[in-house]
Formats: sequence, C-alpha cells, structure tokens
Amino acid sequence: MPVKKNKKTIIYKFAAVTSSMYYDKNILAKVAYDVLEYAEDKGYDNLLKEQEQAWQKKWEESDIIIEGDVAAQQGIRFNIFQLNQTYTGQDERLNIGPKGFTGEKYGGSTYWDTEAYLLPFYLSTADEKVAKQLLKYRYNHLEKAIENAEKLGFKDGAALYPMVTINGEECHNEWEITFEEIHRNGAIAYAIKDYIRYTGDKNYLTEYGLEVLIGISRFWAQRVNFSEDKQKYVMLGVTGPNEYENNVNNNWYTNLLACKTMQYTIDSINWVKANNPEKYNQIIEKTNFREEKEIKQWTKIFTNMYFPYDEKRKIFLQQDGFLDKEIKPVSELSHLERPIHQHWSWDRILRSCYIKQADVLQGIYFFEEDYDTETIRRNFDFYEPLTVHESSLSSCIHSIIAAKTGDEKRAYNFYLNAARLDLDDYNNDTEDGLHITSMGGTWMTIIKGFAGMRIKNNKLSFLPFIPEQWKLYSFKIRFRNVLLKFEVSKESLKIENQSNYDIDLIIFGNSRLVKKNSVSEIALRQKSS
Ligand code: BGC
Repeated sequence: MPVKKNKKTIIYKFAAVTSSMYYDKNILAKVAYDVLEYAEDKGYDNLLKEQEQAWQKKWEESDIIIEGDVAAQQGIRFNIFQLNQTYTGQDERLNIGPKGFTGEKYGGSTYWDTEAYLLPFYLSTADEKVAKQLLKYRYNHLEKAIENAEKLGFKDGAALYPMVTINGEECHNEWEITFEEIHRNGAIAYAIKDYIRYTGDKNYLTEYGLEVLIGISRFWAQRVNFSEDKQKYVMLGVTGPNEYENNVNNNWYTNLLACKTMQYTIDSINWVKANNPEKYNQIIEKTNFREEKEIKQWTKIFTNMYFPYDEKRKIFLQQDGFLDKEIKPVSELSHLERPIHQHWSWDRILRSCYIKQADVLQGIYFFEEDYDTETIRRNFDFYEPLTVHESSLSSCIHSIIAAKTGDEKRAYNFYLNAARLDLDDYNNDTEDGLHITSMGGTWMTIIKGFAGMRIKNNKLSFLPFIPEQWKLYSFKIRFRNVLLKFEVSKESLKIENQSNYDIDLIIFGNSRLVKKNSVSEIALRQKSS
C-alpha cells in the first residue's frame, strides 16, 4: 500500500468475535469472515455512528446527572457505563459476573449479586424483558439446582441453587460456601417478588416463577429442624452474607429469607390457582406438589421459626453465638491491621466480631416495610461499628439504610465510597477487575437511598433529599408503561412524565397524580403536596 509523502494514512483494523454458543464450531471462521466483510462494507465512520446512536439511547434511559460535584458525577457515570456495557439481556443463557468482562476474578460466574444488587438497575432503566432474562436464567437452571440439592441428600424436588455458576452447576470449591452459604437461594426467590412488584407481571409466576419458588421452599423446609429444646424450628450450620464467620446456627438473615420465601410461595400458589387453574394443575403435576401437606408444613415452619434476639439491646442477633464474641468496634483496630483479611489469619477472623458486609442489615434492607425506623436505627447503630466493609457489596446497603434513618451525611459518605471504588482504586484491587456488583449498588444508593424510591401497593413512592454537596441531581425511571424524569434540587422535586399515560405517585407519603406529558413540581422541604 503506497503511503504518500506528507500525507496522513489511516489504517482501519476490523475484528470480529464469534462464539460457538451461537454457531456450529465448524463454521465459526466463516461467520467471522462474513462479519468482517459486513464491517468493511459499512466502513468505520458508519459503524462508529451506529455505536454512538446505540449508546445515546442507553444514556437517555439511564443517565444520572449530578450538578455541583464533579467527582460524584464522574463516579456514577462510570458505573452506569459499565452496567450497560456488561449486560443487555439479549440472551437468557447469559448473566452477570461480579467483575463483568473486566477481570478474571470470579471466573465470569453468576452469584447472588445479580438478584440482590443488579436486578433493580435493569428493572428501572431498561425494558422489562431485560430483567426478566435474568430471572429466566435461574428458571432454566432449576433442574440442575434440584440435582445439586440431591447431591447433598435433599429430596422430593428441593432446589439449592449454586453459590457460583456458569451453567447451573456449582463451581465453587469451599464447603462452607457451597453447603452453608445457602442464603443465595432466598435472594433468588426475593428477586421474583421484586420483579413482579415492580413490573406487575404476575404471569411470570404462572410461566416460570412458581416452579422455582416451590423448589426453593422445599429446600428450606428440609434444611430446618425442630428443636425440642427451643420448641421452634432452627437452621443449623450456615454461613450468612458475612463470610467472616462460618458454620453458625440460626443466622437471622437466612432464617428470615427462608420464612419469607415459604410465605411468598404460598401466596403465589393461591394466585396461580385462582387465576390460571389449568396451568396450576400442570405445575402441580410437573413438580409433584402435594398441596395440602406441603403448605401445612411450610406454614408450621414459618410461624414457628426461631429468630435470635437480644432483649437487652433490642436488636436482631446475627446468629446464636454472636454475643459470645469479644465485641469491640472497628474504630479500635489499628489501621495497620486493616483490611483484616490481608493481615489476620482466618482462624482469628472467623472468631472475631468483625462483619465483612451487611448481614442483619441486608435482611432489614430487603424487608424494610416490616420494621419501624427506631428498630432499623438500633440495628444499624449496633452492627455498622462492627463492620469492616471488606466486600464491595457493603457500602451501598449501609448507604440506603442510613438514608432511611435520616442520616444523610453517612448515606453520602457510603455513596462516595461505592461510586468511586474503582476510579480511585480504594481497595487497591481494581487490577483484578471492576466491581460491577457494587456499581449496581451505587445506582441503588441514589435512587433508593437519596431519592427514597420504593414500590408501595403498585405505585412508585419517593421520599427524596439532596446531599449537601450537590446542587441538583436528576434521573429517569421506567415504570410499567411510563417514563419519568426526576430532578431534585435544594428547593424542589420536579417530575416530568414523558409518556402518554397519567401516573399516580406517592411523594412524601401523599398521593400525587402526574398527568401524561406534563411536569409537576413539589417543594422539597415542605414534605407534603
Ligand atoms: C462477597 C459475596 C459476593 C462475592 C462476589 C464476596 O466477597 O462476600 O457476598 O457474592 O464476593 O461478589
């Protein structure tokens, strides 16, 4: 190729990626050549334009604008970019690894991170099909989850989803995680409820969800045993979300999720039975569900479950033996010992009172509507000072709970930590890959924390505040067939309904109709309409 003197020559390099997930191995090379030809014909400029347009659409749906705080703005945009880059929902065989495609740690596998931390972002910023794909991934692995439970001695269709998986099989190799960190099953059931609560798509239960719920409830029913001593059901030998203690009895969070799953499964059974009896009969046949017996057994369990509680402090206990530990706040540790997982032996960590990430608080976060603010604050004030936040999943949940209790300063500090974790390499581990799960969590801190978004009786509810450092923040939420833009300033909350449907919202506890294609403004401090 002649390169002319004093002239600029541009060489375009095209690359094509194909996968045997989509094409027969034997034609992979040919497919790649076809793609290259297509790319070459189209040309670099056109491809770039298409890419820009696709991204523009993504940003229109999911951007969060923050005025007055460049670091926070850069942080959240970096997070949103990575979330959109990682998952599009085009293929139900795919899920989201904690590091996305940015690093090999965690092997690209799926964890409970998806259901607990990532689903909400896709639910609110993309078509509901995207979030549905994440749920279907688990539905498609139900048989494997039943096999997985069978390997451990469970029977009759009990399902234990793996802690770490690519294809439905357990890929983790530590017994205290694979056999004991069973709370992941609960997050999978919770996500079904979360999705339906958000989208209103109850048919998901009929199509897929109920089978999964029955499998998981059966697992819980077999995993507990009745303690003659306590005259209650107990769950022994588990690891809660706090992986800094293993093999504990009655992890409050796991017991809670087990009960909530069984209750929700029964509600779902009643709904499917009433609304689609034909499909219900197919499901009971397929799952060999013994309706009366199993419902009776689950009800007995969730109404008689043991939950460790400290009467003196009036807090839920992380597990039976938690108060036997030497309780000393993290603030008394020398900075030379932090992070403890790099300075202490496992023996020492496992016996200590130090908590890796939200555990009791994770349960309170999921089922917040069951607890009054004082109860939430008491538990936060007891557990947070003992928490080392050595999982990137920790800050976001603490931020949301701090916001809920009105502690705006701490909510903001936890947010900053989550938002810039990788940009500033706070944990000195960004070289392992980005913390994609924490990025979903960061989005949640703004939407659920600062803006206080919840779903209440099929309606979107908001209780917004603005961090002191910010002048304004704005975001968009897709809810069912409506697209809303919110703008929170020091003075007001502005809501723009960008759709052709009216919507009834709950703002500061009051009902508020926002008509189609209109803007509504509410004073921020006034806290009533
Ligand atoms: C956390 C788990 C999480 C995993 C992957 C661990 O450090 O403790 O809760 O699922 O990382 O993000």
